[in-house]
Amino acid sequence: MIAPTYKRTLVTSALPYANGPVHIGHLAGCYLPSDIFVRYKRSKGEDVMFICGSDEHGVPITIKAKKEGISPQDVVDKYHKMMGDSFKEFGISFDIYSRTSSKTHHETASDFFKVLYDKGVFTEEITEQYYDEEAKQFLADRYITGTCPKCSNPNAYGDQCEQCGSTLNATELIDAKSTLSGSKPVLKETKNWFLPLDKLQPKIQAYLDQHKDWKSNVYGQCKSWLDSGDGLQPRAMTRDLDWGVPVPVKDAEGKVLYVWFDAPIGYISATKELRPADWELYWKDKETRLIHFIGKDNIVFHCIIFPAMLMEHGDFILADNVPANEFLNLEGDKISTSRNWAVWLHEYLIDFKDKQDVLRYTLCSNAPETKDNDFTWKDFQTKNNSELVAILGNFVNRTLVLTHKFYNGSVPHAETFTKEDLLVLEQLASFPDKISSAIEHFKFREALAEMMNLARLGNKYLAETEPWKLIKTDEQRVKTIMNIALQITCNLAIVSEPFLPFTSAKLFTMLNMPTLKWHAAKQTTNMAAGHTINKDELLFAKIEDTEMEAQIQKLAESKKAIASTGSATATGSATATETIEPSKPETSFDDFSKMDIRTGTILEAERVPKTDKLLKLKIDTGIDQRTVVSGIAEYYKPEDIIGQQVSILVNLAPRIIKGIESRGMILMASNSKGELSFINASKTNFNNGSEIK
Ligand code: 2FM
Ligand code: ZN
Repeated sequence: MIAPTYKRTLVTSALPYANGPVHIGHLAGCYLPSDIFVRYKRSKGEDVMFICGSDEHGVPITIKAKKEGISPQDVVDKYHKMMGDSFKEFGISFDIYSRTSSKTHHETASDFFKVLYDKGVFTEEITEQYYDEEAKQFLADRYITGTCPKCSNPNAYGDQCEQCGSTLNATELIDAKSTLSGSKPVLKETKNWFLPLDKLQPKIQAYLDQHKDWKSNVYGQCKSWLDSGDGLQPRAMTRDLDWGVPVPVKDAEGKVLYVWFDAPIGYISATKELRPADWELYWKDKETRLIHFIGKDNIVFHCIIFPAMLMEHGDFILADNVPANEFLNLEGDKISTSRNWAVWLHEYLIDFKDKQDVLRYTLCSNAPETKDNDFTWKDFQTKNNSELVAILGNFVNRTLVLTHKFYNGSVPHAETFTKEDLLVLEQLASFPDKISSAIEHFKFREALAEMMNLARLGNKYLAETEPWKLIKTDEQRVKTIMNIALQITCNLAIVSEPFLPFTSAKLFTMLNMPTLKWHAAKQTTNMAAGHTINKDELLFAKIEDTEMEAQIQKLAESKKAIASTGSATATGSATATETIEPSKPETSFDDFSKMDIRTGTILEAERVPKTDKLLKLKIDTGIDQRTVVSGIAEYYKPEDIIGQQVSILVNLAPRIIKGIESRGMILMASNSKGELSFINASKTNFNNGSEIK
């Protein structure tokens, strides 16, 4: 376990843009892990502060306002309230949920900029920016669309092509046009203030070098920024826009702070609002540990740009860790607010009233900690029915029901412990440290699995000792068994709190116990003999297929709407739940015709020993019979594919794979999960060797 060498912890969770409601991707990305971490720290009695709020500036908000015909302030008022309410109802226990349109924030961000300005940190640069002569304003990148120079997507934005994922400069777009007036924008000179990240690179490098212990996805992304091409580049910290914190210097009319300059300062402003008297302790004292919980799209801002700002300011501590998660997908497709492909928290809270912990459990057990993961309703149902109901709920229910039945709800006295009892008690006492260690290392999935292992231990103990049978022959022994089962239940109430706070609260109520702190879970005597427990109630109820069907239907409707508005996602029922990859860069006909693709038939198939994925195939190509090693063993059994007609690239250079010479490659279709299948485009059987052109 990491010994705490700090006095207090300041935990921030990324400030969500106030341009839409919260969805499960947000929750899995940072709000749930940070909440678990903070609840655990509170339970340990540590000094911890949990900061969040709405990010109310930035272009997406002005775009939303334009679309809805309301002011940006109306947009942020609406979503700030909505997000704050649903976080609260979901049990995300921020100490403050503030907002960046607050007066304190405007002042704090403004002062911060001025300090850097007065220190001469910024460089002033005149650059050419796109300007809309009809709308009479400079155009933020998101207000410019055009054709992507890399993949020819006609709807690429000025900063990014969502189809091929390339980062772009607005001037690179082909046929750029303004989304405000539809006119062709012109380039016009404008002055902005830049943070010279190029000059600051050595300092940032030194900072990152001290944090090689960060999650590999986080450290790796930072490294690749630093090591890429020319290294870090100066970045404009001001924008020609009328929504945001006004730039507090001369000659800056019509300019606001870059949203990524002001948003992280929002963490500081919120701390000030919460603790006006001693907020500085949390931001300036070396014995404070600062941790930013974020999603992976925010890594560079929290690990490079914000630390650079803080270093140049000089008064502040820097983050000690930035445990960013990867992305959560939904039913195999990228979650998207604009395409309405999401499970919205406020809707979940209506559809699944009082089932906050089921979603918390599913999202945590499947959290995208090391790679992108997928949320499916099927998995949600299984996690509820086969784990929460069948393991945790079942153990608690049996223990409490039997305690009422045998002892009228009074905790029996433990008599003599057997060897098995002592082993169970020893194991029971070991759980808090195991869970702690996982949480301290930001391994929340592992921590949750350990918590469930405690319920499993309880179930196993009851199954082996069978108190319901033994009561007829050995009442004394049953008292000990039930005492131990109640100790396990109580400790479950303690260690489940960070993950399942609603369940934990119910458990403490049923046990008629005050909320106990983490250290108590190392004890095995929390439930005193003679203490009376309350009536038991069901912890979790089974979720029926019909409830899942309703959710899947809801998603199908989103898919239909997406398809009919011609968005990037596939139309047609068979492929409706698939993500379509953008096309690859253009190729020439000459290059294409170099490939000799034929129809062939699989004559023999066998697994390649000691591999999970590979099959060794003998294929009649019409030209010859040859061996091809193919990575399809996860999807096809050898015996099922004999006689299968395939498309094969016959002039691929031979390769030795696991000691076998593979000559050619079978062409397969891959869905968004990377699952492969043969391409059965035609029902006609071709002669082997027919060319595919
Ligand atoms: O990605 C986002 O939703 C940003 N609004 C996160 C900001 S985090 C912090 F810097 F405020
Ligand atoms: Zn593109």
